[in-house]
Amino acid sequence: MTLLSSHSFITTFVSALLLGQSLAFPAWNTTVILPQPQPTVVIKTICNDGKLAAANPRAAFFRKLVHESDYSNYTKVPSPQGTNMKVGIVGAGAAGLYAAMLLDSLNIDYDIHEASDRIGGRIFTYRFDQAAWDQSTPKDPAYYDYYDVGAMRFPPMPYMDRVIGDEPWALIPYINARVSERDKVVKKHYIFKTNNTFRLFNGITCPLQDPNSASPSRYNVPIFNTTFDSMSASQVWAAQVQTLTAALSADFDSGFNLLMQYDSMSVREFLLRQGFANSEIDWLETMNDATGHYDMYSMSQAVLEQWIFDSADINNWSLINGGMDMLTKGMNLVVKNKPVLNNRVNAIKRGSGCNLKVVVNGTQEYEYAHVISTVPLGALQVIDTKELGLSYYQNTAIRTLNYDPSTKIGFKFKTRWWENLPTGPFKGGQSFTDMPIRRCVYPSYGLDVEGAPGTMIASYVWGQDASRLGSYLNPHNPTTQWPEQPESADTLVELTLRDLAQLNGVTYEFVKEQFVGWHAYDWYGSAYSNGAFAIFGPGEFSSVMPWLMTPAAEGHMHFAGEALSSGHAWIIGAVNSAWRTVYEILCTEGMEDKKKQFIEQWGVIDEVDMGWYDWSPEGWPTYK
Ligand SMILES: Cc1cc2nc3c(=O)[nH]c(=O)nc-3n(C[C@H](O)[C@H](O)[C@H](O)COP(=O)(O)OP(=O)(O)OC[C@H]3O[C@@H](n4cnc5c(N)ncnc54)[C@H](O)[C@@H]3O)c2cc1C
Ligand SMILES: *[C@@H]1O[C@H](CO)[C@@H](O)[C@H](O)[C@H]1NC(C)=O
Ligand SMILES: *[C@@H]1O[C@H](CO)[C@@H](O)[C@H](O)[C@H]1NC(C)=O
Ligand SMILES: *[C@@H]1O[C@H](CO)[C@@H](O)[C@H](O)[C@H]1NC(C)=O
Ligand SMILES: *[C@@H]1O[C@H](CO)[C@@H](O)[C@H](O)[C@H]1NC(C)=O
Ligand SMILES: *[C@@H]1O[C@H](CO)[C@@H](O)[C@H](O)[C@H]1NC(C)=O
Ligand SMILES: *[C@@H]1O[C@H](CO)[C@@H](O)[C@H](O)[C@H]1NC(C)=O
Repeated sequence: MTLLSSHSFITTFVSALLLGQSLAFPAWNTTVILPQPQPTVVIKTICNDGKLAAANPRAAFFRKLVHESDYSNYTKVPSPQGTNMKVGIVGAGAAGLYAAMLLDSLNIDYDIHEASDRIGGRIFTYRFDQAAWDQSTPKDPAYYDYYDVGAMRFPPMPYMDRVIGDEPWALIPYINARVSERDKVVKKHYIFKTNNTFRLFNGITCPLQDPNSASPSRYNVPIFNTTFDSMSASQVWAAQVQTLTAALSADFDSGFNLLMQYDSMSVREFLLRQGFANSEIDWLETMNDATGHYDMYSMSQAVLEQWIFDSADINNWSLINGGMDMLTKGMNLVVKNKPVLNNRVNAIKRGSGCNLKVVVNGTQEYEYAHVISTVPLGALQVIDTKELGLSYYQNTAIRTLNYDPSTKIGFKFKTRWWENLPTGPFKGGQSFTDMPIRRCVYPSYGLDVEGAPGTMIASYVWGQDASRLGSYLNPHNPTTQWPEQPESADTLVELTLRDLAQLNGVTYEFVKEQFVGWHAYDWYGSAYSNGAFAIFGPGEFSSVMPWLMTPAAEGHMHFAGEALSSGHAWIIGAVNSAWRTVYEILCTEGMEDKKKQFIEQWGVIDEVDMGWYDWSPEGWPTYK
């Protein structure tokens, strides 16, 4: 069955339900009963049935969506005999570098074109004194004079093993076996949550360990449903999705079909139907998420996230010591052909035979047997791909798939003053607020090093919170934006200092005196990323994403990058997408020996069915 026909059925069913209900009952009637699971929904089994689902629900969910698309049926025309089997990789982030590593192992040649002046993409560590860092070792304070602008932490999930696991084929051991001592990638504990950090809502501060720190009444917030007196916002939310996660756990296939009925529904709409008032939903969103997220998150995205996080031990997250970019630097050291920087790809065209041509800087042309795009979809949208004949649905997916904004503001202080507050000492962890900065992240690195620098993430925001703060970072373009607002960045720094002081129970004068410097980054404001990461909106899982999984140009144009994986919004997503595209190349070319070698060395990703069936959670897949 093709994607359209199978899903139009479910989608039509859901929209009929939605329309029917909203016509029948005015929107303010919040006692509407949930649509019941449809007995007529066709139950489709994925080829590895419940085993994958139990071990890796996120991948199983994704695999099932892709399985119903045309993915495995894309047209494959192998390159003519004698073609130079070279690959053009667009982008030198985690996906581009990982694809290069994989191609090296297969002895397939490639170039990496990177538009910006650095490698790493959304892995980006800012160092307040790069020269001092270069001279330092992990024993020196200067080694910790940084903050991670993009990716910064890993939850403990087997699902992330391809990146953080200890197996020889996992990324970190692979790098460490090949680089010098100074460049080794070292995992350390990331402190997610710790006593004495703060919550500040509605102008009232409360330490995290206060038994009522999650209760609206503690903050004088008038929420009338008494559920909120006994349950925290995160517990209320977890209880609401429990029905759906339980269904998935009990029987993946019927759980999947149930969840797909909510794929077109936003979180707010779901909660309204469950009987919550908008004011209560706003409170849940304020405490659990980012401003506006409950209006744009699809329920299927939200449920999968919740399911994953329920199973990840909050006390066992990790970080990379010395900065997350140790990972991309390590990959860069390991790959044979280094990325070429300042090389912006403007167009991807047809070449001779089955080849494709990559146009760089509008002038230089390079011909390849295959091209892997790893650029975020907003960046892909402005690359001219007209000659490739992408389908209407592929182009629509590139244009519409939702990317969340995110902004981080890194501050450097004279000391780590937060570790010695009169309200109680703490190291690492985060504080939360409804003020514009929303949350600050205290460093979990350098904790055992005397005199480690006073760097912290003074604000880490997503959604509308991020768009708003981000606007202060882009004031200096007199030719396109009027009036010029050079004072904007100062406004942002002052606001952050004020919020930070209040959140931590110290005076503005104190933090101002401690303040040394700042660096900030708005990921939607960067034309190299056009957003922070993919977050699927209503309907996008089922009707948008699978189109982009399918290679174009007879199997010679491949789409990778964080967004196009079950692990989207994580490094694992970028890495898995790269694995998939390299395997696609081998499939198009019918390189059976290399396929076997590839799987033997690198294992499989489970999120797409690429022709093996003997997957088992206990061991290595048997190549078929
Ligand atoms: C704020 C933030 C926090 C995050 N937190 C975490 C976290 O804690 N843990 C985690 O695992 N993940 C996290 N992530 C996600 C993770 O960083 C990404 O999923 C991953 O780094 C994406 O890699 P990528 O290769 O797909 O894309 P990118 O890293 O964006 O790489 C794409 C590359 O393409 C380049 N490019 C763009 N246009 C062109 C062009 N026309 N020609 C040539 N090159 C081009 C870009 O410059 C870039 O280098 C976070 C991301 C952000 C933004
Ligand atoms: C793929 O193609 C085969 C043969 O044409 C067909 O039987 C099968 O249903 C197709 N699969 C999908 C998912 O479209
Ligand atoms: C809301 O809808 C329910 C379910 O149909 C109905 O029983 C109830 O009377 C309605 N309430 C109001 C205030 O309209
Ligand atoms: C933390 O996770 C790692 C794997 O990432 C595991 O080996 C270790 O046992 C876990 N520790 C605890 C205390 O759960
Ligand atoms: C945090 O505070 C709570 C409440 O006072 C206490 O029960 C708990 O043991 C503390 N945790 C740690 C790690 O100190
Ligand atoms: C609060 O809202 C939830 C969700 O609708 C509902 O299950 C619960 O009964 C409500 N509690 C009260 C006391 O109204
Ligand atoms: C593209 O332009 C940049 C900056 O002008 C330059 O550094 C780079 O070498 C150019 N690349 C090619 C392939 O011409």
